[in-house]
Amino acid sequence: MINNKAALLFAAYAGVSGVAAQQQTTWGQCGGQGYSGPTNCVSGAACSTINSYYAQCVPATGIITSTTTRATSATSTLKSTTASASTTPPPSNGSGTQFAGINIAGFDFSCSTDGTCNVSGAYPPLKNYDGANNYPDGVGQMQHFVKDDGFNIFRLPVGWQYLVNGTLGATLNPTNLGYYDQLVQGCLATGAYCIIDIHNYARWNTGIIGQGGPTNAQFVNLWTQLATKYASESKIWFGVMNEPHDVNITTWAATVQLVVTAIRNAGATSQYISLPGTDWQSAGSIISDGGAAALGAITNPDGSKTNLIFDVHKYLDSDNSGTNSICVTDNVASAFAPLATWLRSNNRKAILTETGGGNTPSCEQYLCQQIQYLNQNADVYLGYVGWAAGSFDPGYPLAETPVQNADGSWTDSALVALCLAR
Ligand SMILES: *[C@@H]1O[C@H](CO)[C@@H](O)[C@H](O)[C@H]1NC(C)=O
Ligand SMILES: *[C@@H]1O[C@H](CO)[C@@H](O)[C@H](O)[C@H]1NC(C)=O
Ligand SMILES: *[C@@H]1O[C@H](CO)[C@@H](O)[C@H](O)[C@H]1NC(C)=O
Ligand SMILES: *[C@@H]1O[C@H](CO)[C@@H](O)[C@H](O)[C@H]1NC(C)=O
Repeated sequence: MINNKAALLFAAYAGVSGVAAQQQTTWGQCGGQGYSGPTNCVSGAACSTINSYYAQCVPATGIITSTTTRATSATSTLKSTTASASTTPPPSNGSGTQFAGINIAGFDFSCSTDGTCNVSGAYPPLKNYDGANNYPDGVGQMQHFVKDDGFNIFRLPVGWQYLVNGTLGATLNPTNLGYYDQLVQGCLATGAYCIIDIHNYARWNTGIIGQGGPTNAQFVNLWTQLATKYASESKIWFGVMNEPHDVNITTWAATVQLVVTAIRNAGATSQYISLPGTDWQSAGSIISDGGAAALGAITNPDGSKTNLIFDVHKYLDSDNSGTNSICVTDNVASAFAPLATWLRSNNRKAILTETGGGNTPSCEQYLCQQIQYLNQNADVYLGYVGWAAGSFDPGYPLAETPVQNADGSWTDSALVALCLAR
């Protein structure tokens, strides 16, 4: 399964870039591997590379511009409480999962599935990033999501390279960590739980951690520093790694065990820690690929498994890749029901930290069904976190980025309003 955010960006825009246009409009794609559309931007906009697969026309005066432009570029983004009430049936038992929320992406932009991240390709969702005042307002988005949608968890992806400014094994770079911490503190200030997500696919610059690439010690060093920094924050969730793939699961589980031990020994004795499996953390293959068994054996230093949570992802399109805006399955029979059975019989819990789709009728149907299933099985599913808001332009088909209106209020994407909001 390919679950590559860079590929997502490319695939998402390939279909909408007008080949007839000589110049790309603001926010349109203007470059990237495999892209053959216009590479010049309209007057007043400049082509900005987000990663090797995707470049976007942005206003020359800033990376992300006025709310007016953003609002007009969004098409199907009406937050409708009426539709929400009629389309999403309430959980039939209990009050649903403990957690509901969304990814606030951007510090991870430019990270590829081979674990390569270009530090200067990060696109932080921090309004005043680096002295500017025109970056996406991730903190404002989170405040909106908590207030208007009932969200209580955010996942904050960041490239490993960003945190150490490109030097493997280094002390966390104070400047870069300072910026990331602004997003973390903005999250904590909302009262929500905040997942620190190292968005590196179990890799650093093509090498697999503990399997020929970075040493376990180098990865443990990263997490020791982060856990030391956030040891006293009960709502920090340690999201060990995003989407490991093509790793030896037995060896990988041994690496994750070292990280869990290091986080606990750094003083973060009780917070949630993610256990991410191979196969891009697929909820559909974690049992068959050995992830559930291997990661399930990981323990805290005291021998318990308290707050060690399976961390899974799942998209709903035909090739299971999350690259299409049409959905074909609710994943219940193929993934979430068998996993629920396994979790129950092993007395464990899981969280879904990436899911989403296009703002299309099929995704509205299937994603709502999938979320409903999680809500009905909240004894084993702690929650769900949509992909993604933050620095994604609202024109990206899988964007769950809200658009801020002139009066300061926010408008959600259809999928967020219908399926994810509480
Ligand atoms: C890294 O990103 C910067 C800014 O987007 C770009 O100028 C540079 O060419 C990129 N470097 C590589 C190696 O891709
Ligand atoms: C990060 O590293 C680059 C090049 O290695 C350097 O130019 C830059 O100043 C560093 N940034 C910080 C914040 O230390
Ligand atoms: C994974 O690594 C273990 C040693 O840690 C080895 O015994 C096993 O054969 C490897 N599995 C595969 C599929 O290569
Ligand atoms: C909640 O209700 C659904 C549908 O009635 C049922 O399938 C599920 O097993 C219930 N879950 C729990 C934890 O009772």
